[in-house]
Amino acid sequence: MMSGVVTRFWVQALTQLLALALIAAVLSWGGVTAASAETQAVGRQGMVATSSPEASAVGAQILKAGGNAVDAAVAVGFALAVTYPEAGNLGGGGFAVVRAPDGEVITLDHRERAPFGATQDMFLDAAGRLDSNLSLESHLASGTPGSVDGLLVLHERFGKLSRETVLAPALILARNGFVLSETLAGRIQELLPELRDRPASLRKFSDGGKAYRAGETWRQPDLAKTLQAISDEGRAGFYSGWVAKAITHEMVQQGGLIRQQDLDAYAAVWRDPIHGRYRGFDVYSMAPPSSGGILLTQMLNMLSAYPVGALQPDSPELIHLMTEVERRAYADRTEHLGDADFYPVPIQKLIDPGYAKARMQSYDPNKASLSSAISHGVWQESEQTTHYSVIDGDGMMVALTTTLNSSFGNKWVIPGTGILMNNEMDDFAASTTEANQYGLLGNTANAIAPGKRMLSSMTPTLVLKDNAPVLITGSPGGSTIITTVLQVILNVIDHGQSLAQAVAAPRVHHQWQPDVIDFEKGRLSGTVIADLKARGHSLQARSAIGVANSILVTDGQFEGVADPRDMGAAAGF
Ligand code: DON
Repeated sequence: MMSGVVTRFWVQALTQLLALALIAAVLSWGGVTAASAETQAVGRQGMVATSSPEASAVGAQILKAGGNAVDAAVAVGFALAVTYPEAGNLGGGGFAVVRAPDGEVITLDHRERAPFGATQDMFLDAAGRLDSNLSLESHLASGTPGSVDGLLVLHERFGKLSRETVLAPALILARNGFVLSETLAGRIQELLPELRDRPASLRKFSDGGKAYRAGETWRQPDLAKTLQAISDEGRAGFYSGWVAKAITHEMVQQGGLIRQQDLDAYAAVWRDPIHGRYRGFDVYSMAPPSSGGILLTQMLNMLSAYPVGALQPDSPELIHLMTEVERRAYADRTEHLGDADFYPVPIQKLIDPGYAKARMQSYDPNKASLSSAISHGVWQESEQTTHYSVIDGDGMMVALTTTLNSSFGNKWVIPGTGILMNNEMDDFAASTTEANQYGLLGNTANAIAPGKRMLSSMTPTLVLKDNAPVLITGSPGGSTIITTVLQVILNVIDHGQSLAQAVAAPRVHHQWQPDVIDFEKGRLSGTVIADLKARGHSLQARSAIGVANSILVTDGQFEGVADPRDMGAAAGF
């Protein structure tokens, strides 16, 4: 008995040493630079697609070292907090959809929660108007972070390697630094002017106030200390002890609401996925507090009555049909969706195929059905979230979307910790008449309440056929996340496109209000635009929609694609 325990200890210790050696090798080798990264990869044993070449390399190395898809996903999650600080995080939250090798599909909600001190009208000024400076830029904007608990809980349930092993790559990247790509250096440079009054943030993101340049090594020693605490102590390393003290001290000093009782009470929640069927495929996605799974299922249900595959991908006929479907689903989102632990979301009704049919009774193939084009929300382009996909040789699949909400969250770093905080509170319907930063409206279902989770659009999604893996996808993009995922699925299932085509294809988006079709600038022809206008639609060009880092499985082969709209990479073997 005793010798069995001792042997197990040594086997474990050796495996982990090997894993660490492999990881250290790939990172110090310096082969992981944006320049050498590939947006596409194929393999049969493991695949990772993320928006950060360093994080993709970490995931692939963890798989090679004997970790499973969850070990890789957790290591990637921590690595992204270092190498993709726009959205990768310790101070934010996310959702994971996991398929275990036995076929069970389960989701982990690690969304932020409103602190217990939150109140319904906390972002309204004396005149009752939404103060988006408060909901986006202040310490009040932060919900209680869920990412660290989420990644650790995920790892505890499914991981094979030790916690220290899956945290090691992130720690090494933070402590030793990594070489800044043009894109990341550029994004940080753009951010600097906004950090003038945020000394801890300026310290993290600049070299004593001087902007880092592409090609320089960026080290984050404070973040390394926090990662070390998590590696040593697990959950307590973040939610109690010196890190928690630093967070609550900063919140008290700066008028934020997160207190020790919020951190103590935070717990990620296992939830059943939303399951839908579309043309013989099983689609699993996120349940409330995300609206993603319900809306995706609703839209696929509505579309299943139409010959989508017979329509050209960018044709006015298909864009019109999708718009009408999206209009109806997003109208329901406004009224019915919120945290189901606090509000009775009519989930079964919304995803019922019969309801989808009834909803489309008013559909006219030639005419826009609602003309509610009154308020055109102002789109901010600085939004950022990140999605990644992982699969291993046993068919374990992970779709994980994580965010600080806006790019770099509320841009406040907690002094001494390197932790950048989220501004997720803006995802609540803080006002019933004014939209949030994504132009989204909401009602009682998504009103602010203490301890409640704000409604999300994140849509990490798994597609299976006859219980075999087909597709892992998801995206950032605020309200456009759900329609991005929808279009990737249609491109694969209905249009039979390769994954690279399906991900790179032009995207359009409609969300009921504002009543306008968004399209990617320069990617819709003048004749298609004219045709859609003739049907009664308004259109507006915007920059890229979504970043769908995805994996497709065909005959046992994994095709990984990092969306060319961002700076990511796919890595597999
Ligand atoms: O949870 C949500 O729906 C938003 N906070 C996501 C933000 C986002 O995708 C920004 N990305 N580009």
